Amino acid sequence: MSPAHSLAVHLDTINVEVMIPTQLLDATSISDIAIAKEILRRGGLVAVPTETVYGLAANAMNPSAVKAIFAAKERPSDHPLIVHIAGPDKLVDWAIDIPPLAYQLAARFWPGPLTLLLRKRPQVPTEVTAGLDTIGLRVPANPVLLALLTELGFGVAAPSANPYKRLSPTSAEQVFTQMSGRIDAVLDGGDCEVGLESTILDLTGPKLRILRAGPITASEIAQCTGLPVSQPMQHDIVVPGNVAEHYQPHTPLHLGTREQIMEAIEAKGRRIACLFYAAAPNTSETAKIITMPKEKALFAQCLYKTLYSLDDLGLDAIWLEYPPSSEQWCDVNDRLSRAAATPRTSLQPTSLNAF
Ligand code: TXA
Ligand code: MG
Repeated sequence: MSPAHSLAVHLDTINVEVMIPTQLLDATSISDIAIAKEILRRGGLVAVPTETVYGLAANAMNPSAVKAIFAAKERPSDHPLIVHIAGPDKLVDWAIDIPPLAYQLAARFWPGPLTLLLRKRPQVPTEVTAGLDTIGLRVPANPVLLALLTELGFGVAAPSANPYKRLSPTSAEQVFTQMSGRIDAVLDGGDCEVGLESTILDLTGPKLRILRAGPITASEIAQCTGLPVSQPMQHDIVVPGNVAEHYQPHTPLHLGTREQIMEAIEAKGRRIACLFYAAAPNTSETAKIITMPKEKALFAQCLYKTLYSLDDLGLDAIWLEYPPSSEQWCDVNDRLSRAAATPRTSLQPTSLNAF
């Protein structure tokens, strides 16, 4: 039995009772890649690099391996998982009634940060999709994971490799710090290139609909398909995991204008970090000042990394200046509004965070 299976899983009151030794594997080592494959083949959990964020992978056709993902993350069992596949030719293994549009989008955006929501094949374990009759599928662009998927011959279910509601990790170190003791291995493939989670596009309804904003924008999808694409500004019940408070650092995060942040600095008395967009004012003696990149791709790439590093400082608050609100920044603004959302009471570190 795999160590991950020795976890006590109670899907309604999720409970992890046993600590397991977590191996840190190097994606440039042939022998370490072989170990990662072996763990996944026997139904274990391996955190893997993707181009967006690190994912917590398990064989998507193995129900007990999939259940172990929920236990390790303390994720509610009604939040469906995305399945990562080796190429568009594998869509038929997971989905039915696949519209030609899916292949058109796959040809343009895969491998890449676009998850397509399709009708699920009945043979796919219900644990993966939390009982829904739809399934999210994507071909990741990270070469290490792509090669792994091709060699394994099966798809892996992989949510972001963080405890429930926390920031998605963009480095192996961040995964290890949070998940060590709960999973079999972390495969270190370096920092994630994109830094934010994939766009989720629903192809099951009468109209194209983005369920989660991501690096691929509505305009890019409209341009590729010649069809209108809707993007609800409110989080939607069809994405159970898309809750208002999510992607949160432990330190309270506030969004503000430059003037509001300057006021917070002048108020003194509290240990704060201030992240300014594009250019920061002169350094302050009372606050830690950081300049965030002007360009969207660079901003996204370092956002979670910056929040993770500030979280280690035990500050009273982090202030972040609003970035632009244009369509290109939709995913950044979506994540920021959730990261800064309240209440945060349910988000105090649990005993598991001590691992
Ligand atoms: O970039 C990404 O998408 C990363 C990497 C690892 O691939 N994965 C990721 O997974 O962000 P996760 O589980 O953290 O977020 C997936 C989101 C959740 O909000 C979930 O509810 C939604 O996708 N989702 C998955 N399958 C779904 C389905 N069948 N119907 C509706 N929403 C679904
Ligand atoms: Mg996540």
